[in-house]
Amino acid sequence: MNTITNTMANLTPAAAPPAAAPTGGRRSIGDILVSSGRLSAADSEKILQRQQQDKSQFGDAALALKLLTKADIDFALSKQFDYSYLPAQDTSRSPELMAAYQPFSKVGENLRAVRSQLMLRWFNTDPSRKVVALVSPGVGEGRSFIAANLAIVFSQQGERTLLIDADLRQSRQQSLFMLGKSAGLSGILADRAGLEAAVPVPGLKGLHVLPAGAVPPNPQELLGRRAFHMLLQAAAEQFDVIIIDTPSGTDYADAEIIAAQAGAAVVVTRKNQTRMPDAALLAKRLQDSGVVLVGSILNDD
Ligand SMILES: Nc1ncnc2c1ncn2[C@@H]1O[C@H](COP(=O)(O)OP(=O)(O)OP(=O)(O)O)[C@@H](O)[C@H]1O
Ligand SMILES: [Mg+2]
Repeated sequence: MNTITNTMANLTPAAAPPAAAPTGGRRSIGDILVSSGRLSAADSEKILQRQQQDKSQFGDAALALKLLTKADIDFALSKQFDYSYLPAQDTSRSPELMAAYQPFSKVGENLRAVRSQLMLRWFNTDPSRKVVALVSPGVGEGRSFIAANLAIVFSQQGERTLLIDADLRQSRQQSLFMLGKSAGLSGILADRAGLEAAVPVPGLKGLHVLPAGAVPPNPQELLGRRAFHMLLQAAAEQFDVIIIDTPSGTDYADAEIIAAQAGAAVVVTRKNQTRMPDAALLAKRLQDSGVVLVGSILNDD
């Protein structure tokens, strides 16, 4: 995934991930790694000596001595900056959650670029500017992948983030986040549950996911209900950023209904896959129904 553009202009480049040297008051990288059992006190001392000798950073000295790996240093940095991420050995979620497992990868960087532009263009404290639906015309274009990972990078920035899986046909978020049972969105829309059906994700601070719930026989009818509007209004009081995953826009009218409920959409296209006339048609249909098109994401993995 690379760019987010719209017809107006290209905006500011990506914000850099937090990788600066520690400032006063923060625990040192050595302390964090020793207390988490990733480094012995004796090796920490060796690294400090090498660091003083070379006048280098702790991480660089540790890598030169082969006492730590890049993953260890990323782990310590994430703790130092209160930056939630999941270590590779944690298999409790899908590895597709790359923003959580590989926050400093190219994909992570691109997601943060998208996040910056959405912050500039759309999200603010106004309750009517807290929700965005991710739509795309075809199947397998990366809506669910981007929705999940984008929600993670927003939560890593300290935003109280809610990811809603409104793909009531082929839901993905439950399996990506490997969540337990929840009545889900369909349960809320059928008046069988409330916002407590949105579950926090352990290890990813500030992130809640509302899974799709049981597959209903009448998704369009449920999604068009006033209960969806009320849910978004209630969620806007508790969250800063609400991201909605949708089914393919060409196959079903669901995406249009969801985007109309959200009030705003981002159009995802996948390189060498999405038919551009289909994307243009979907965008036009959304605009005709009064949906604000915040931008588009080119998924060029
Ligand atoms: N930028 C990317 N980098 C790596 N893998 C990606 C990327 N985008 C999508 N994928 C992978 O491509 C596959 C399809 O993506 P995804 O399920 O998100 O698409 P979708 O548009 O939600 O599809 P559906 O129409 O089934 O809802 C998934 O296996 C996903 O992990
Ligand atoms: Mg999907």
